Amino acid sequence: MTVRVRMLPDAAAVASAAADRIVAALEAARAGSRRCAVALSGGSGPPPVYRELVRRARAGASIPWAVADWYWGDERAVPPDHPDSNYRLAREHLLAPLGIPEANVFRMPAERGDHDTAARAYEALLRERLSASASEPSMPVFDLVWLGMGPDGHTASLFPGTAALAVRDRAVVMHHVPAAGMHRMTLTFPVLNAAREVILPVTGEAKAERIREVLGPEAVPGRYPVQNIRPLHGALEWLLDPAAASGLGATVERRSNGGSPVGNMGG
Ligand code: 6PG
Repeated sequence: MTVRVRMLPDAAAVASAAADRIVAALEAARAGSRRCAVALSGGSGPPPVYRELVRRARAGASIPWAVADWYWGDERAVPPDHPDSNYRLAREHLLAPLGIPEANVFRMPAERGDHDTAARAYEALLRERLSASASEPSMPVFDLVWLGMGPDGHTASLFPGTAALAVRDRAVVMHHVPAAGMHRMTLTFPVLNAAREVILPVTGEAKAERIREVLGPEAVPGRYPVQNIRPLHGALEWLLDPAAASGLGATVERRSNGGSPVGNMGG
């Protein structure tokens, strides 16, 4: 596992760096004549990245969209056309503008009332379509997982104090999240950590204290769910703007060249 923490000049640069990683994953898949399984994030993070990807496409960038299969890291228990749906967010701001065929889009059926059956159905889909990891228990392998971090240190819908944090034999669960006041379907740590690459763009002052507690010198391992994102054989890259990184102080150098790595925390 390799962990890189990159400081970018601003939030727009974070969105552009995230878009770069997504495009690079698609290009690697095309070069390898294989599909590219991407798990999209939700929350407030995606819109700037979606806008950047659509901007590049409309500017004529040659991006192999056809190799991508689009999945989600988590979804709210709402219909797919609900304003809070992570799927709707992606459909409106990325998939529809790019003309991505529905056959390549695999949303989480989180609106279903049979929660565990729905979660198991999504897991079965992942196991059918993705390659299998060599880990025990074997997990479906995403080429790229894009996660966010909430103010409480949650990621996907793995929230502090929930039983989902301890799940090791499932790739997908659906659970009630008191902090969100609703049920959420989410990928679990075993499948997230089986990914070839995980990107974690985080921006804004509101996340600075949590970033300090997660990435700073006084970080307590495992204190927050996002700290359990540790790809077994893959790469994790944090993409931070100065506001989100402001609590890290001297451990994060401001680089004028657009964000060279500020630290490789392997192990
Ligand atoms: C969701 C997301 C969630 C998100 C974090 C950060 O469904 O809300 O998948 O995990 O990544 O909550 O979101 P914000 O940037 O909006 O705080």
